This record gives sequence, structure tokens and C-alpha cells, in this order.
Amino acid sequence: MQNPKILAVTGATGAQGGGVVNVMKKVPGWKVRAITRNTTSDAAQNLAAEGIEVVQASFDDETSLAKAFEGAHAVYAVTNFWEHYFRGKTLRESGTIEEAQGMTIARAAADTPTLEHFIWSTEPSAAKVTNGQIVTPHLDHKANNMAYVPAMKPVLHPGNGQWIQVLPTKPDAKILLSGDMAVNPGIWVRQVLANGSKTFGKYANVALEKWSFQQMVEVWGEVLGRNAVFMRGEMGTEMAQQFKFGEICDPWKETEEFLSSAALGIDEKEVVGFRGTIESLKHLF
Ligand SMILES: NC(=O)c1ccc[n+]([C@@H]2O[C@H](COP(=O)([O-])OP(=O)(O)OC[C@H]3O[C@@H](n4cnc5c(N)ncnc54)[C@H](OP(=O)(O)O)[C@@H]3O)[C@@H](O)[C@H]2O)c1
Repeated sequence: MQNPKILAVTGATGAQGGGVVNVMKKVPGWKVRAITRNTTSDAAQNLAAEGIEVVQASFDDETSLAKAFEGAHAVYAVTNFWEHYFRGKTLRESGTIEEAQGMTIARAAADTPTLEHFIWSTEPSAAKVTNGQIVTPHLDHKANNMAYVPAMKPVLHPGNGQWIQVLPTKPDAKILLSGDMAVNPGIWVRQVLANGSKTFGKYANVALEKWSFQQMVEVWGEVLGRNAVFMRGEMGTEMAQQFKFGEICDPWKETEEFLSSAALGIDEKEVVGFRGTIESLKHLF
């Protein structure tokens, strides 16, 4: 019997790469190599405990990637925009770092003589598609170097028992849904590899569903047996504008048109501020 081919999976300890591992570890003819920065993390150790080869490499270190890709026949590449953003980089900086990391992975893969297939996890560039009208760094930069579950959780309206999903978009706006990330990326990778050269240079959407927000809310309600409705709300945009306002000036700066609390005879000790409010609501969190 031939030796199995090696699929090197970046992001193997995360959602997408983990989904690829879940499926590919069961596909005959393939052996998964999981790539992580930290082979001692719980996620990495869990993979190792399943008998999966776990190797150390970082997207910031091309040499480590080249070593991790040695002998690989396929590479699944996914970069992580949000990690940079949540560590305090701006959206644009996060996109720039992500793009650079993507190129580092691509260069290391290109230098792997055994490589037959490079699978890139990417998204369409909003900036390109809309001619710069919508700039969305977590999409745009991925698309530069070469699927999707919206944060959807309707909230209960206490007055009428309806579950309401408010988003600043039309109910018929469509979005590509990736479905279950623990499964679907792996299915796509398995089929891409099974189809070989036919897939070179092509994009493959994970998954097939392009739904409107209206449809998603209806299905959410059906599955959970809840009366759910979608509402277009400008709240997000509105709040963003408000915060922008607060960035450029103090919107509540008092002028002679203001009456101060002291002028109204208010005792500050009686007033409940932010800390007091949180303390009194502690039981709700
Ligand atoms: N999840 C989704 O539904 C979805 C859908 C479409 C697109 N995306 C895109 O996918 C990306 C995130 O994927 P995810 O949700 O799978 O993320 P995740 O669950 O947060 O996992 C991130 C993975 O990336 C690895 N990683 C991060 N930085 C690394 C570095 N410098 N070197 C080596 N490995 C590194 C981490 O490995 P270690 O920490 O073990 O090193 C971890 O396995 C985002 O850019 C997002 O826009 C996600």
C-alpha cells in the first residue's frame, strides 16, 4: 500500500483548521499534520492524543513554516485577522499584518517541492467589489493575497414575547453561510483534494447556502420554536456615529445654556453613577 499523502493544516487548533482536521483525519490516503505555534497548548495536546502529528511553526517565521511543510502534498492555509485586532491593532493594521502572514505562508508552501495543492481560506474583497465604497479590512486583505456565519442571536422583546434580530441591513440582503465550521471546511478540503488539478486557481465557496437575513431568522425561530422577526435597525450605524462624535470632541461640554446639577440642588452622593449601577445589577451578569 502507498504511503498516505500529507496535508499540513494551519490553524489546526482553531475553528476552521479544526474542522479540516475533523474530516481529513478520516479520509483514507491522507495523513494530517497539524500546525500550531504552541505544541503544549490544550488544543494541540488533544490533537496529539488522537495520534495526529503536531508540529510547531509560526506565520511570522517562514523558516519554521518551510520546515513544517516538508514532505507535504497539500497545505490548508488560514490566517487570523481577529487576533491582531483584539490585541489592539487597528482594522487596517490587522489587515496588513494578516496579508503579510498570508504571503509568508504562501512563500513557504511555494518552496515545498512535494507540494501538489495549496488551499487558501479567503473571502471576497468588499473594497474591490464595491469600488472602494465599502472598506472591510478583514475581507479586503485576505482577498489581496489571494465562508461565513454572522453573529446572529435574536433577543427577546419583553413586551410581546417576540424574538427580534436587529441589524443595520435590509432583510433580503444575502450572505454566504459556512454552516458548521467543525465539519464543513474539512468537506471542502477533502473534495478539493479529490478533484486535483481541476481545482487549481479556482475559488470554492464554503458552504452552498446564500441566505437572506429574513430566511435565517425564520429558520432560527422554526428550529427553536420561537416567534422570531427581523428588523432593519440603523442602531449600529447610529451608535458608531455617536462614538465618532465623542472621539472628536466632548459632546456634553457645558455652556451657559446648561443648568449644572449643583444649580439644581442635586446632592452628588444621592446620584448612582456607572460603578453603582453595575454593582446594583451584578446579579444579572
Ligand atoms: N470561523 C469562521 O466561521 C470563519 C469564516 C470565514 C472566515 N473566517 C476567517 O478565519 C480566520 C480565523 O479562523 P478561525 O475562526 O478558525 O480562528 P480561530 O478559531 O481563532 O483559530 C486561529 C488559529 O490560527 C492559528 N494561528 C494564529 N496566528 C498564528 C501564527 N502567527 N502562526 C501560526 N498559527 C497561528 C492558531 O493556532 P495556535 O494558537 O495554536 O498557534 C489557531 O489555530 C479569520 O481571519 C476569519 O476572518 C472565519
